[in-house]
Amino acid sequence: MDKLVTRIDHPLVQHKLTLMRQKETSTAKFRQLLEEISLLLAYEVTRELPMAMVPIETPFAATTSPMLAGKKLVLISIMRAGQGILDGMLKLIPSARVGHIGLYRDPRMLMPVEYYFRVPDDVSERDMLIVDPMMATGNTAIAAVHRLKETRPQSIKFVCLLAAPEGIKAFHEEHPDVPVFTAAIDDKLDEHGYILPGLGDAGDRMFGTQ
Ligand code: URA
Repeated sequence: MDKLVTRIDHPLVQHKLTLMRQKETSTAKFRQLLEEISLLLAYEVTRELPMAMVPIETPFAATTSPMLAGKKLVLISIMRAGQGILDGMLKLIPSARVGHIGLYRDPRMLMPVEYYFRVPDDVSERDMLIVDPMMATGNTAIAAVHRLKETRPQSIKFVCLLAAPEGIKAFHEEHPDVPVFTAAIDDKLDEHGYILPGLGDAGDRMFGTQ
């Protein structure tokens, strides 16, 4: 079993995350930083993808060289904030298939409600990366993974930018088989389920809504 939580502490990730946290960072800059960080998260989270040696010819010689093996990846964006990570990851893994799950958080109960679900037909032959910038209470991530497990992917990893300790604990109580990759684990949740110190509402900061 993989490590349950991997904190991606690469200096470039941490530097860019600090810029994203700052309240004066503009919407355009926030989006750009999220895309840049997502490339780096994708790099780390795909570190152990299976490889196969394939015969090739360079302009000078025949040789064998490593390539990704198998059906590869499906990326699942939890709408709407997952879109920012998805866009960045697709720059690095352009041939990945993509699915979307739409869950909004009921502001009173802080519980997720599904409003959209669409994934590729061949998910069961692929390794799945689920992306959402914020794992706060963990309720959305828990519900998304329950739903996505119904599609029987080969494996599942959950990738976020920031997590709260409460969210990670709740998530792994429900899904001890799904490793989480995050750039940072913050202090705690506030009474509205926002991460402190956090970066605010990721969707609002990405899209310029309030
Ligand atoms: N979603 C966000 O966008 N921010 C938080 O702090 C928590 C959930």
